[in-house]
Amino acid sequence: PEIGCLSIIVLGASGDLAKKKTFPALFHLHRQGFIESHDVHIFGYARSKMSDDDLRDRLRGYLTPCKGCKETHEEDVSKFLPLIKYVSGPYDADEGFLSLDEEISAYEMSKDDKGGPSRRLFYLALPPSVYPPVCKMIKRFCMNKSAEGGWTRVVVEKPFGKDLNSSEALSTQIGELFDESQIYRIDHYLGKELVQNLLVLRFANRLFMPLWNHDNISNVQIVFKEDFGIEGRGGYFNEYGIIRDILQNHLLQVLCLVAMEKPVSLKPEHIRDEKVKVLQSVLPIKDDEVVVGQYEGYTDDPTVPKDSNTPTFATMVLRIHNERWEGVPFILKAGKSMKSRKAEIRVQFKDVPGDIFNLKSKGRNEFVIRLQPSEAIYMKLIVKEPRLEMKTAQSELDLSYRQRYQEVIIPEAYERLILDTIRGDQQHFVRRDELKAAWEIFTPLLHKIDSNEVQSLPYKPGSRGPEQADKLAEKVGYVQTHGY
Ligand code: BG6
Repeated sequence: PEIGCLSIIVLGASGDLAKKKTFPALFHLHRQGFIESHDVHIFGYARSKMSDDDLRDRLRGYLTPCKGCKETHEEDVSKFLPLIKYVSGPYDADEGFLSLDEEISAYEMSKDDKGGPSRRLFYLALPPSVYPPVCKMIKRFCMNKSAEGGWTRVVVEKPFGKDLNSSEALSTQIGELFDESQIYRIDHYLGKELVQNLLVLRFANRLFMPLWNHDNISNVQIVFKEDFGIEGRGGYFNEYGIIRDILQNHLLQVLCLVAMEKPVSLKPEHIRDEKVKVLQSVLPIKDDEVVVGQYEGYTDDPTVPKDSNTPTFATMVLRIHNERWEGVPFILKAGKSMKSRKAEIRVQFKDVPGDIFNLKSKGRNEFVIRLQPSEAIYMKLIVKEPRLEMKTAQSELDLSYRQRYQEVIIPEAYERLILDTIRGDQQHFVRRDELKAAWEIFTPLLHKIDSNEVQSLPYKPGSRGPEQADKLAEKVGYVQTHGY
């Protein structure tokens, strides 16, 4: 256990991310006793002038009870909110950060072990353009000053740049101020229950080990869909698009965990070493293995230019050039304004050789990991239909979390990840070389889209996306098995 008082400083405290994710996650960590009133203080920092109570009132509505803690909710909230103080100031000038440091130091000195180890966690819920000035200010004025022990850490959110060069420039600027062990790059998909389960499924089950390769697997699909559009985020989204928003980070991280070799141990560096190897083995994306789309009506948003080519949908094939995966297409697919909201991994096996049931590819086994909604893991199997004649049918071995773990409340991704930052565990955070390798994969394609060389195809809101995307998946070997 760590000693010393903990200060959590949320920069951008009145922004969307802080209100919707950071503070609610801190609330639930506090409610469950992972951070405790007697040794934690939370500071909100932003430009607007307001009082501590103004911030607390703004946050109140976002602190929602979880299943099973409705009765104590009011009390939980009333214990949590007084821990929050607010400091206002600019992001690029000394004064604000000087007063922030004064407030943190005053809190630290109010503790029994005055001058003992202090822990300072800076959460940058801010646009990346202000990361460099803010990091400079933290470094100059707000570092942990205890003589022995303690630490200062910074947590940053994507987007980390817009392409390889801008991301590397950002990494260099921050890297000059903080050591890699102090930087926590959040990808909240790495905090999802079933994403965290991937390592266990793959490396703790003998069943999968001999099957998990190009001899047995025909293709892998990693899919993200949302049934809503950009909803007021047009300014951000139009600059970045779905590839930078979802594929370059969330889906690629999932791909790494599906494809990587067994790490030497569970140490964060061992795991991240294996992920980097996967990324470095991805071949350049072929022009005819990409379909990008934009839902009709996207440019009606007042913050989006009428001639925008920004994709809100993308399907593409990544190919991993190594011994395990040669020839297996990894189909990444993500879209806004689709028919439904879902994120899942589908590992489709090859047809049975020497088939005697006339299955053709209708009978493919498919191993599905549904990340959301309703977490589930299921394996599609071919069984004999339970009746007199010998007839095959598709069925499932189904592990639905809702049924199997009825009593369990699955924690929010942000809760886990923030707890990791406090504990100093970087396993579920993106390392600098991993980020670089991820940008290397997508940068040439992104430049072609930015220069209109690759055009976004229109699709109807609420649909499956452009039909060319389904055709691409079929062309590289995905077989639709529904209904069999
Ligand atoms: C964010 C993206 O990283 O992830 C959003 O910026 C997206 O565009 C969100 O809506 C999806 O997260 P989740 O956890 O709801 O799948």
